[in-house]
Amino acid sequence: MLKLANKVAVITGGGSGIGQAISELFAAEGARVHILDLNAAVAQHVVDGIVARGGTAQVHACNVSDQEEVVSAVESIGRVDILVNNAGVAHVGNLEKCTESDFERIFNVNVKGAYNALYAVVPVMKSNGGGAILNLASIAAVVGIADRFAYSMSKGAIYAMSMSIARDYMKDNIRSNSISPARVHTPFVDGFIAKNYPGQESEMFEKLSKSQPIGRMARPEEIAKLALFLCSDDAAFITGNDYPIDGGFIKLNN
Ligand SMILES: NC(=O)c1ccc[n+]([C@@H]2O[C@H](COP(=O)([O-])OP(=O)(O)OC[C@H]3O[C@@H](n4cnc5c(N)ncnc54)[C@H](O)[C@@H]3O)[C@@H](O)[C@H]2O)c1
Repeated sequence: MLKLANKVAVITGGGSGIGQAISELFAAEGARVHILDLNAAVAQHVVDGIVARGGTAQVHACNVSDQEEVVSAVESIGRVDILVNNAGVAHVGNLEKCTESDFERIFNVNVKGAYNALYAVVPVMKSNGGGAILNLASIAAVVGIADRFAYSMSKGAIYAMSMSIARDYMKDNIRSNSISPARVHTPFVDGFIAKNYPGQESEMFEKLSKSQPIGRMARPEEIAKLALFLCSDDAAFITGNDYPIDGGFIKLNN
């Protein structure tokens, strides 16, 4: 029996990295997957792969920062059983290196983007009798990591947003949880290493890998397996929690 048979899943940022792995696994487990992504071309590749393997998936070109775009994409989908708030962007820098435009970019995507998707999807879930929400936080939400001022704040907001939704919509049979990965090897990590540490890419990759006590970064597929569990009916008793998936980063880095 497929774990997500007959479920409709909306995954933001499903065109790359963790969102791609989640989209592929959810489709393999029977979900009808809708990817909301700014980069429709990369998301279409993911959808083509899913369809070629016999799954069902569709791309909606959408900037999650824009409420009208998100609401109209969700209206075109109709029923939604699962929402994964995954779209996110990075910023490396402390307070003094965080300009107003850096701050606004991070908050517009990471925080407002998640709010917009919740704003569009929660009423639909309520009218359908419930649903499961999973939000991508980060270990940066709860650990002081150097030079992640704006990013850490945005993930702290996700952590709190997830709890607030869990509390307010429990009565509507909506579960809400977050997951907090440490480093996962995706284009997001490669991109910020290339941008912020030019010429030191392999040294930085090694350093970031070793910062997980387990000695490596996670693979996107490993994150997708936890996402699948939390969004499936196997996790029916789980709401209002955050799950680190971090190779020991939070508790074993001593
Ligand atoms: N990679 C990591 O180490 C790591 C660790 C902890 C948490 N996370 C979080 O996991 C999530 C996914 O990260 P990833 O590494 O897979 O990233 P990624 O860069 O590989 O993919 C992000 C996806 O989001 C899309 N996107 C970006 N801005 C968007 C917008 N405004 N509207 C719609 N789509 C948009 C991109 O087009 C891309 O497809 C992010 O929220 C990130 O903060 C990542």
